[in-house]
Amino acid sequence: MSKNEKSSMISGFYKLPVKKRVEFVKNFADLSNEDEKVFSSCLNIETADRMIENVLGTFELPLGVAVNFVINGKDYIIPMATEESSVVAAASNAAKIARIKGGFKTECSKPLMIGQLQLLDVKDVAGAAQKIIGHKKQLLDLANAQDKVLVDFGGGAKDLEVRILDSPLGKMIVTHLIVDVRDAMGANAVNTMCEALAPMIEELTGGRIRLKILSNLADKRIVKACAVFDKEKMGGESVVDAFLESYTLAAVDPYRAATHNKGIMNGIDAVIIATGNDSRAIESGAHAYAARTGQYTSLTHYYKDKNGDLVGEIEIPMAVGIVGGAGNIHPKAILCKKILGIKTAKELSEIVASLGLAQNFAAVFALSTVGIQKGHMSLHAKNIAVMAGAKGEEIEKVAEQLIKEGEIKLDRAKEILKK
Ligand code: MEV
Repeated sequence: MSKNEKSSMISGFYKLPVKKRVEFVKNFADLSNEDEKVFSSCLNIETADRMIENVLGTFELPLGVAVNFVINGKDYIIPMATEESSVVAAASNAAKIARIKGGFKTECSKPLMIGQLQLLDVKDVAGAAQKIIGHKKQLLDLANAQDKVLVDFGGGAKDLEVRILDSPLGKMIVTHLIVDVRDAMGANAVNTMCEALAPMIEELTGGRIRLKILSNLADKRIVKACAVFDKEKMGGESVVDAFLESYTLAAVDPYRAATHNKGIMNGIDAVIIATGNDSRAIESGAHAYAARTGQYTSLTHYYKDKNGDLVGEIEIPMAVGIVGGAGNIHPKAILCKKILGIKTAKELSEIVASLGLAQNFAAVFALSTVGIQKGHMSLHAKNIAVMAGAKGEEIEKVAEQLIKEGEIKLDRAKEILKK
């Protein structure tokens, strides 16, 4: 039994009307009537106008939830904002298979982000690097003076690293400021600290600072998730073998790895957007990390255990926050965090990584068996049924018939509807 009393496991959730789905989530996450109203509301224009520039309106995306997730022994319903069909259903299905063997287990590093200061015009590069390292304490103190609140919460600048790089402009020194950002994504805190350090580094070295900015290759803020996927539920050991054959291409070939990792990001971006986090930061960090050995490769890894079950693992940088940013302004992001019941950015990281693994498993599983189009076709068939004029229960019936006949065409949908 999972740590929370309420189970996220539900069969046929997709068949329920929207109202019933909302009821289920409301009950699962103890949402209020006010919270419930947020599902069908739009971001108000004044809020939008404060978030970005030149606002004309707002842009809506479907918000769904992936069900069936157990992560570290706790049940989760995961909100996902995405325009792509099949993604939410696929994640829920993968979570259902993973839960047979106990669900997802995760590990997370400290929330350490890296800020970079690029130093140019230094004559004695080795001496300048020594000076920076020699003044580590003063530099860290100055960085920490910029964010007393973060320091009070146990975070703040923790370390300095110095790298010397060859470049077409000659040698340059790049100082990395390592900051524990606690429950924030961290860009603001790190950028402020880097800007504050620039004059001191220039004075110490006689050089000239150019860039001072966070790195999105957050390779000191790593989350790992793993799960065992039951071989019987997958259709037997031959399916596990087929899966491993498919996966192996992603491990050795960047052309396949890009698509394989795109499947991971289908899930990750959807929960990142739903919680008001920065999907571009997560994407760039993920792909840079996937290329860290010099060859772009899969962010997941799979093998067979001694039982013949499939073991899946993901390792990925995860710069997410639960404080600050759009996540604290956008009412739907606030609601989505409530649905997740998260108290820390660490917990959110673990959910995101588990969802990424689930999404990737689902895609490769489908590709290794029925192919990806089957899942896509069912929603496509429903859309065609609606275009043909089907309403209510007719939609499902017309779609089913179209799929059975293997031809999803508008004319045929109209004929079926007439009958
Ligand atoms: C489509 O959005 C994602 C997939 O291409 C991922 C994959 O090929 O693994 C299905």
